[in-house]
Amino acid sequence: ANPTLLILPGDGIGPEVMDQVKRVIDWFGDKRGLAFDVEEDLVGGAAYDAHGTPLHDDTMKKALKADAVLLGAVGGPKYDNLDFSVKPERGLLRLRKEMDLYSNLRPAQCFDALADFSSLKKDVVAGLDIMIVRELTSGVYFGEPRGIFEEGNERVGINTQRYTEGEIDRVARSAFELARRRNNKVCSMEKANVMESGILWREVVQKVHDEDYPDVELSHMYADNGAMQLVRAPKQFDVILTDNLFGDILSDCAAMLTGSLGMLPSASLGAPNADGRPKALYEPVHGSAPDIAGQGKANPIACVLSFAMALRYSFDQGDEATRLEQAIEKVLADGARTADLMGPEGGTPISTVEMGDAILSALDAS
Ligand code: NAI
Ligand code: MG
Repeated sequence: ANPTLLILPGDGIGPEVMDQVKRVIDWFGDKRGLAFDVEEDLVGGAAYDAHGTPLHDDTMKKALKADAVLLGAVGGPKYDNLDFSVKPERGLLRLRKEMDLYSNLRPAQCFDALADFSSLKKDVVAGLDIMIVRELTSGVYFGEPRGIFEEGNERVGINTQRYTEGEIDRVARSAFELARRRNNKVCSMEKANVMESGILWREVVQKVHDEDYPDVELSHMYADNGAMQLVRAPKQFDVILTDNLFGDILSDCAAMLTGSLGMLPSASLGAPNADGRPKALYEPVHGSAPDIAGQGKANPIACVLSFAMALRYSFDQGDEATRLEQAIEKVLADGARTADLMGPEGGTPISTVEMGDAILSALDAS
């Protein structure tokens, strides 16, 4: 049977960018014999409009069964005043939670043609290709006790940074597996100097390494130093492994090393099944961009690169993923730019569909 792919375009520019991804998926089916059984469904505001819930139970079931889920974006001003329990974001959170996607992969990759776009000097970022692995389902965003409590004559706000050995173990494995497919190098970041959870984190990561991944080069770094090093000399890193909170901040920081939000893909992976394929959700980092939705201006590259990650991490098609990434590289080198990629010097931007056209032509030429 063909591998199955569930497509959830969502809201705002989600459907616009996903239309271009669907053309790319069809291309791989027609020209490379990579056939997928594709199903499409609603998520976020679109699902709320149709069913009164941001994620229908049937959709959740399909997501749990699919080999991979590809999501556009959710949310928008139309839904801002909805009750918290039915907000579009809740649809996405439910997917992540029920699929138990504990390992969030955020690449920071600098395309040569866009090196001028970085907030940093060109030579610091040219050729940059790193991957941040962020623990996504535990840590201080979820730990108990949490809340705002009365304490004497004032209130106190409490969150708890909490990690079990098992939670650290599984995300560490995912980072080491990833490193083996890349350059065999992991830097783990925590604050073992001041945090108990950091001490345990370092110990467990080292143990997983020594027992099962001694071939991978492992180093440890305090996360504050890591932030500094990311901006000073990001090319010293390959895979960075870190917890939920530090990963949230470090991955946003790394993202800006490489330019536009319209270029950034992500993958969220869960436990591997019997054939080694993890539960997986692929999505661009950006949101629904209501300010440009419906205008044909959105950059589809982040979403297309998310599909490239699906090819690599869910379908074991690393060569085809590289083919797609190189096609995008070529399109950019040839000067194709959506509006978000226009520098201060200006120029004429192309539309979402035209960027899709350009990617397909580059694939044809590959
Ligand atoms: P956003 O990422 O939607 O937009 C931020 C800025 O970047 C906007 O100016 C937008 O036009 C631009 N931008 C984003 N993606 C782009 C693309 N592909 N091409 C060109 N320009 C692009 O973040 P914002 O404005 O904070 O949130 C808008 C809505 O999206 C909110 O409802 C928010 O809750 C939701 N959101 C959803 C996410 C998701 O589905 N994973 C993630 C972040 C926000
Ligand atoms: Mg963030």
